[in-house]
Amino acid sequence: MFSKDGKHKDVKTPRICDVVWHDGEFINWNDARVHVMSHVLHYGSSIFEGIRCYSAKQGPAIFRLREHIQRFLNSAKIYRMDHPWTLDQLCRASIELVQRSGMDQCYIRPILFRSLDEDHPAFGVNPFPNPLACYIGAWDWGKYLGDEAIEQGVDVCVSTWNRLTPNSMPAMAKSGANYMNSQLIKMEALLNGFAEGIALDDRGYVSEGSGENIFLVTGDIVLTPPLSSSILPGITRDSVIQICQELGITVKERTIQRAALYVADELFFSGTAAEVTPIRSVDRIMVGQGGRGPITEKIQRVFFEITKGERRAPGNWLTYVNAGKVAPADNNGFSTAAIESETAAIIVK
Ligand SMILES: Cc1ncc(COP(=O)(O)O)c(C=O)c1O
Repeated sequence: MFSKDGKHKDVKTPRICDVVWHDGEFINWNDARVHVMSHVLHYGSSIFEGIRCYSAKQGPAIFRLREHIQRFLNSAKIYRMDHPWTLDQLCRASIELVQRSGMDQCYIRPILFRSLDEDHPAFGVNPFPNPLACYIGAWDWGKYLGDEAIEQGVDVCVSTWNRLTPNSMPAMAKSGANYMNSQLIKMEALLNGFAEGIALDDRGYVSEGSGENIFLVTGDIVLTPPLSSSILPGITRDSVIQICQELGITVKERTIQRAALYVADELFFSGTAAEVTPIRSVDRIMVGQGGRGPITEKIQRVFFEITKGERRAPGNWLTYVNAGKVAPADNNGFSTAAIESETAAIIVK
């Protein structure tokens, strides 16, 4: 699955939606283009989201749409991107895009970036003179860490690259530029024969994968790094926390040492693309029994039952595309499950 040079396409893309939402209207895929001198290409000035639409029993259902769009708006606010779009407009645009695509499952990618005003071009770092552009595209995307990963787990390494520091690039904003750090982590892992890399934060504590949050199981307790370990406040992470609470599994946010990864009973990644993926080895040290552990399997099973519409979610997690109404979000647009935490609560508008 993962070639040693990492150059082969690794995630299947069976279909791409032939229309793209652009600043309030739908345009053809082929017309969704930017000028090469756009600010975003030179200075990384974009923020984006990744959202899954699942083929549920009652039809296509977008998973935690409002929470994703709220995080999108938060990322834009952090980067002072003064755009006109509201939560409801972007939710409705995402729903309509999926309806128009005709796909019953897909990955939805909203992106907001600094482009180029061709009549009054500006080429400096200062982003303010550049116009903003907002697009939403969608495609059908396979299993992000490999077809067998969900059951068998993945082999990963601890990266030599650290995660961003909180006062350099904010990890809580999902900005395009953050993914240069993710690319360093991912390329190193692939070239060394691993499916993914785990980055430590600037203090040496476990942070997250290049595109996933991480959970550790020790005995019957589930641990995950706090937001202060420079992680993205993952929506799947929040879903896993709420699923644990519903199942009566103790879940805590804790700073985690690298060595704790090696002696954990179970480890797994969470993320929109990776969903809930077990980790079977770290730095070639077997995790637990070297496959998917029982607690991971239980959480994974509940997660997939919810996304298939077969089990009631702890909150309004599914927006049925054909019903046209956006599921109201938990907790004013963003849910951060109340769990025992050693970090101060973060305020997410
Ligand atoms: C760096 C990083 N961490 C964590 C996650 C998981 O976040 P979510 O569950 O919201 O997709 C992602 C995926 O978007 C990511 O890119």
